[in-house]
Amino acid sequence: MKKIFIIAFLSLFLSNIVNAQQLKSPNGNLTMTFSLSNDGTPNYKLAYKNKEVIKSSKLGLELKNDKNSLLNNFSIIDTKTASFDENWTPVWGEVKTIRNHYNELAVTLSQATTNRQVIIRFRLFDEGLGFRYEFPAQKNLTYFVIKEEKTQFTMAGDHTAYWIAGDYDTQEYDFTTSKLSEIRGLNAKAITANLSQTSFSPTGVQTSLMMKTDNGLYINLHEAALINYPAMHLNLDDKNMIFESWLTPDMKGDKGYMQAPSTTPWRTIMVSDDAREILASKMTYNLNEPNKIKDTSWIKPVKYVGVWWEMITGKSSWAYTDDYPSVELGITDYTKAKPNGKHGANTANVKKYIDFAAQNGFDAVLVEGWNIGWEDWYGNSKDYVFDFVTPYPDFNVQDIRDYAKAKGIKMIMHHETSSSVRNYERHLDTAYKFMKANGYDAVKSGYVGNILPRGENHYSQWIVNHYQYALEEAVKYKIMVNAHEAVRPTGIARTYPNLIGNESARGTEYQAFGGSKANHVTILPFTRLQGGPMDYTPGIFEMDISKLNPGNNSHVNSTLANQLALYLTMYSPLQMAADLPENYNRFADAFQFIKDVAIDWDDSKYIEAEPGQYVTVARKAKGTGKWFLGSVNGETQRNSNIVLDFLETSKKYTATIYADAKDAHYKTNPQAYNIRKVVVTNKTKLSTFCAPGGGYAISFIENK
Ligand code: NOJ
Ligand code: CA
Repeated sequence: MKKIFIIAFLSLFLSNIVNAQQLKSPNGNLTMTFSLSNDGTPNYKLAYKNKEVIKSSKLGLELKNDKNSLLNNFSIIDTKTASFDENWTPVWGEVKTIRNHYNELAVTLSQATTNRQVIIRFRLFDEGLGFRYEFPAQKNLTYFVIKEEKTQFTMAGDHTAYWIAGDYDTQEYDFTTSKLSEIRGLNAKAITANLSQTSFSPTGVQTSLMMKTDNGLYINLHEAALINYPAMHLNLDDKNMIFESWLTPDMKGDKGYMQAPSTTPWRTIMVSDDAREILASKMTYNLNEPNKIKDTSWIKPVKYVGVWWEMITGKSSWAYTDDYPSVELGITDYTKAKPNGKHGANTANVKKYIDFAAQNGFDAVLVEGWNIGWEDWYGNSKDYVFDFVTPYPDFNVQDIRDYAKAKGIKMIMHHETSSSVRNYERHLDTAYKFMKANGYDAVKSGYVGNILPRGENHYSQWIVNHYQYALEEAVKYKIMVNAHEAVRPTGIARTYPNLIGNESARGTEYQAFGGSKANHVTILPFTRLQGGPMDYTPGIFEMDISKLNPGNNSHVNSTLANQLALYLTMYSPLQMAADLPENYNRFADAFQFIKDVAIDWDDSKYIEAEPGQYVTVARKAKGTGKWFLGSVNGETQRNSNIVLDFLETSKKYTATIYADAKDAHYKTNPQAYNIRKVVVTNKTKLSTFCAPGGGYAISFIENK
């Protein structure tokens, strides 16, 4: 039911600060106060249960070639308050319906020196605040260039932060846990090598940024609805504990080219004294526009396997030959090339994966390295690098199309753009048509290496518009998109639910590139997942990568039970079983969980949560009444003590528990697990051992 009503004078009062306005969250726990300082600078502050969360902080924008900017000299010419409460149904998701419930304050400001108007719109939910700048159509402000957004978030103390270093080109870092005051000193160590990276400040960090205060408040800073604007980083003034927005520049160093009427994305501050509420919040989605796709029947959650991990580990190659140090599409003759004997995307190997997918109830198979050009695909700043339609000689598109169709398996296309964005846009229409003609209705795209046009960054306004273009074009062809290395998501999947996944963080691939921290997966749900699902690619059963490729000594820092739990804790409608079929055949009893686990949900209950330490969530499968539970653990072993009160009363379930053995350890003994079956009810208490880097997974099936 939709309910909108305007409350005329909601908490409007005057104080010694000019024109202070107060806004309360629906449950009254959060209070936002807006005011103008004496020179007409907009300010806001935020309190939770009477504790300061954000101390008085400035708002505004610095404009290029404009001495007045949009920083001060403002007066309030209008205020409007409203309340909003509605439920909406996501096309896929963690829950069946989402409540969008907030109180709103829109302040219209007029700048005395220029007569320009800006609206700052605040929405206060029970779990946090969203606000944005709006530029109405007006004579004195039409086209303008943002030099920097000057939004401040003044922290009330030296909080613990779970951060990755600010960077214009990569998000694929391990998280560092430290005090805010320690970020500067730890910055150099936090920046590890990547194929494209541009850091900008020793105290710069990325959003979504998770923090915890000494008095037990959880605070999260991020953004929602990043459309036609650069992605926001945060730069910390570590003397005063003030974060300030730091937008990703274009190649000239400009931040945003704006035309009124327009708006910025929402800046978000989530806050709670219960970490589980941060995980359960749907505020980021709620700040996005409703679904714009009328017929969504073609958008479906996907469980898939792929010709992928064998290349990531170095067992196989994307490239067909080792003979060609350089390739020119249309000129290089692959029929003359000597195959290197380890090309993964060959027809026979792909058919093995299709067979495996069909035998084990998967929906789809991803194949990478199927198209020509991989011999020389990054590092050379090549413009025309792939055409996205020409297969290697050993990959038979039609044969695979027909074979997959006969087995009831969908194929997932791979478009590695090599960050040659103009090249991708040139080929996009033909590439999407080629997909549809050959039975592919989902694409994994990727943006490895430095962006072309040269000098552009991975998260500038120009390229944010490219990711959006690729997504909206895909709607025309009924194609689902999973973009890797694209900008971190900000809830846009509400508006375009064909965005079924993104990478945009350090995924499982890094476990084969030297490894990730064992507690990484206890932080991602608080950070990267706030904006939307991640194609994390879980399900690795063989942790010793040298067993796949003797030349690769990487170790997967996770127990096998932890890998199973990821299907629950890393929510996504797109889930991969990333390991090789032979490793699943070796551990068939544990693989059963991956076969059984659902990927779309009617309900989700966060049971335990502490960033960096553990996350436990139970989810009710869409339409079947089955429940599944996953729990991931950080570095320190623990017992997870929970009550199964989410199960339905007076029903009995058979719980199959996949847990770490007592001697399991992510480093020394990752494959030690046990599986037991017990009959449980919603009164049952469970105590389960979690090894370092471990966890457990449970399936609950009702006894009839
Ligand atoms: C990086 C992606 O994250 C990975 O999944 C992909 O296999 C490679 N790029 C090659 O496109
Ligand atoms: Ca990647």
